[in-house]
Parts: sequence; structure tokens; C-alpha cells
Amino acid sequence: MTAPLLFITGASSGIGQAMALEWVRRGGRLALVARRGDEMRAWVAAQGWGTDHAEVYVADARDLPAMCAAGRDCIARQGLPDVVIASAGISVGVDLGDEADLEVLRAVVETNNLGMAATFQPFIKPMCERRAGRLVGIASVAGIRGLPGHAAYSMSKAGVISFCESLRVECRGFGVRVVTIAPGYIDTPLTRGNSYSMPFLMPADKFARQALDAIAAGVGMRVIPWQMGVLARALRILPNWIYDRAVAGRGRKARTTQ
Ligand SMILES: NC(=O)c1ccc[n+]([C@@H]2O[C@H](COP(=O)([O-])OP(=O)(O)OC[C@H]3O[C@@H](n4cnc5c(N)ncnc54)[C@H](OP(=O)(O)O)[C@@H]3O)[C@@H](O)[C@H]2O)c1
Repeated sequence: MTAPLLFITGASSGIGQAMALEWVRRGGRLALVARRGDEMRAWVAAQGWGTDHAEVYVADARDLPAMCAAGRDCIARQGLPDVVIASAGISVGVDLGDEADLEVLRAVVETNNLGMAATFQPFIKPMCERRAGRLVGIASVAGIRGLPGHAAYSMSKAGVISFCESLRVECRGFGVRVVTIAPGYIDTPLTRGNSYSMPFLMPADKFARQALDAIAAGVGMRVIPWQMGVLARALRILPNWIYDRAVAGRGRKARTTQ
């Protein structure tokens, strides 16, 4: 029997790389996707893996035809994956009083939302025809309520949550599970520059183990770590007047256009 196959974007760093490593530890094969092909190939070589363990696909999530082509290429070379995880994402602060930040917002939405749609697209029909598979979107607790200075990211991750929910219902009758994972703060290059407090910060390998467990269980949505899940549930029902006061003075994600 061939080992289960994971197609994963954002595989050159952070959460994506940690989940890829954990997948192989559990006996699986990989299709790794990101822009930095050399980085991924060097990492695969450092693990001592051959092409039977992992293949590398270079694609920019903002280039939708290229991302769809990577998915089709994977099906042709390695077969239809058992699990597809869209982990590629960027997090950049914005101040929309500054017109230049509209382009930052565009980059965030193209990467985090359109890139996710193009990641899933080639697999939806074949998985539904096979009547088995998992499509996994990496959202964020920042998508549950809007964070100041983070309008682009919060908008994109709220979009991920709703997008995956739509797909989840659409795929329900076809044996395909759509799983949304909403990380809290995970220790990766994406969070290392943050100047504000990050409660319940979790190492990426621990996150990866819990995320793959949730994916295997086929849950609809899981917040990791669980303490953030409790906070997220409270945030959802908190009245605006309390929420606004609680987050108004919070530190903001750095911008790139200053
Ligand atoms: N770390 C956290 O605390 C946290 C919390 C909530 C949600 N998340 C989400 O988790 C996901 C992964 O984040 P991370 O912490 O692992 O960040 P990271 O270490 O910065 O990794 C980001 C990954 O996304 C890829 N990527 C970015 N832009 C891309 C593009 N245009 N095309 C293709 N790939 C692209 C990068 O690869 P290349 O640069 O090689 O293309 C890299 O592999 C993101 O969706 C993020 O929003 C993270």
C-alpha cells in the first residue's frame, strides 16, 4: 500500500514545514509547495529524503494559474493527495489612511484567500469523485474579531473561515471533509518580529501534532492551542463596547510601507 500523500503550501517555513515533518513522522509522503524552491530542496536533502518521500513544486500563491498547475502536476506525478493543506500566508500591518497600504491589502488577500482557493481547486472534483479526502485551510484567531492595525489580515482570515465553511457544506455529501484550523500564536518567522505580547505562544512542532490530529479526526474547525479556543469563544460573544476597550491599546503588527 502506498503511503498517504499530503499536498501542502507554505512548506518552506514555519507551520507548513512543521506539519510536513510531522506528516512524514506518521508514515506519509509529501508534495511541498512554496516560492523558495531551493530552500525546500535543501530541507528535503537535510532530512535524507528521496523523491519517494517528498517532491517539491515551486509556485506563487498570488499566481492563480501557477498554483492550479502545481496541483495538477502533483496529481500527475504523485497521484491524488489524501490531504491538502493551504498554509501559505502573510501577515502585514496596514494603516488605510495611507493609500499605499491598499496594495498591501491586495497582497494579503491575494495570498491568503485567492491563493487558498487556487490551492484547493484542482483537487475538489477528483476528491469528490473518489469520495474521500481532506481540504484544510489555515485561518487565524485574528479572523474571529477584527484587530486594530490588522484590517487586511483580519479581513483575509475571516474570509478563510467563511470560505472553508462554504466548501465544507458543499463537500459534505461527497465524503470530502473540509477542516479549518485557526492557530493562536505559534512560534515561527511570522511572529518572531512581533513587539506585543503573544499569550499561549506555542512551538511549531507541538502545533503540528495537534493540527494533524484534528485533521485526522475530520473536525469542522479547531482553534489551537485550546486556551486560545476558549478565548475565541468568549471573543465571539463579547459586546462591542467591551471588546473595543479591551483591544484599543494593543500593540500593532508592523507595516511594510512606512
Ligand atoms: N505563526 C502564527 O502565530 C500564526 C497564527 C495564525 C495563523 N497563521 C497562519 O499560518 C500560516 C503559516 O504561517 P507561518 O507562521 O508558518 O509563517 P511563515 O513562517 O512566515 O511561513 C509562511 C509560508 O507561506 C509561504 N508564502 C508566503 N507568501 C507566499 C506566496 N505568495 N506564494 C507561495 N507561498 C507563499 C512562504 O513560502 P515562500 O516565501 O517560500 O513562498 C512560507 O512557506 C499563514 O497562513 C498564517 O497566516 C500563523
